[in-house]
Amino acid sequence: MADYEPSTYGDKVADIYDALPYVAARPTEATVEFLASIAGKRRVLELGIGTGRIAIPLAAKGFKVCGLDVSEKMVARMRAKPGGDAILVEFGNFGDVKIGGKFSLIYVVFNTFFSLPTQDEQVRCFERIAKHLTDDGVFAIEGFVPDLGRYDRGQRVGAINVSAERVLFEVTQHDVSAQYIRSVQVEIRDGEAARLYPVQLKYALPAELDLMARLSGMRLRARYGGWNREPFNLASQLHVSLYELVPKPPNGPPPKKPTSKRPSRRRRS
Ligand SMILES: C[S@@+](CC[C@H](N)C(=O)[O-])C[C@H]1O[C@@H](n2cnc3c(N)ncnc32)[C@H](O)[C@@H]1O
Repeated sequence: MADYEPSTYGDKVADIYDALPYVAARPTEATVEFLASIAGKRRVLELGIGTGRIAIPLAAKGFKVCGLDVSEKMVARMRAKPGGDAILVEFGNFGDVKIGGKFSLIYVVFNTFFSLPTQDEQVRCFERIAKHLTDDGVFAIEGFVPDLGRYDRGQRVGAINVSAERVLFEVTQHDVSAQYIRSVQVEIRDGEAARLYPVQLKYALPAELDLMARLSGMRLRARYGGWNREPFNLASQLHVSLYELVPKPPNGPPPKKPTSKRPSRRRRS
């Protein structure tokens, strides 16, 4: 068995996910408001729905939210919350987007798209999304803009949260040519065994995501530097990108074939 599978992160972290300092600090309300403003009239699908941090408040606004996830433990956390039971979840790899019907909004937040470990899988996911969007639908993705300065010769050890009773820190290796990050968050509580929360990400640059969209018949509609529609610029540490289907040409008459006039034959005298 491989030491890291799609379900590894969720299964390991589920019981503390919502309380993690960097999760609690997410702009959850702004994210929900933003998504509600572009959700359209049909169903909404979250890739990597997790504990329902976004999906539950979005559903509470009246949207029919569905989700995909590979970790039963994360989804069990969502089910235990008020309103979490009403959300339809299909289990499996969200890269396959195996769920029936079309959606006016498909979204994937908080770098979760990068958990698809290869470029092939990421392109295939875009292609599947294009098949599940309504004609006026939107695919929204939130991802980080890589900060190569975080790493010293391809590695980093950094404090996430420090108190007298507990420390949470990360140990990370960065393969710049593969754009791949292997990280383990380590939690040590006084008098208890250490707990490890591994996460692996194959990140893509915004321009690469735009290319994946083009390969899948989509195009960039807008890009922001945050969920409050901050402008995206050189200082942006994350991006919120919206993709839409490229409209098909209208069904008019087939274009006329070019007429090639043959030079008239000379009469023989
Ligand atoms: C960082 S959590 C985000 C949860 C939620 N979207 C949020 O923002 O709070 C990532 C979630 O994606 C799920 N996940 C990661 N890779 C996946 C995959 N390939 N297929 C399905 N779910 C996946 C994990 O199990 C986890 O629940």
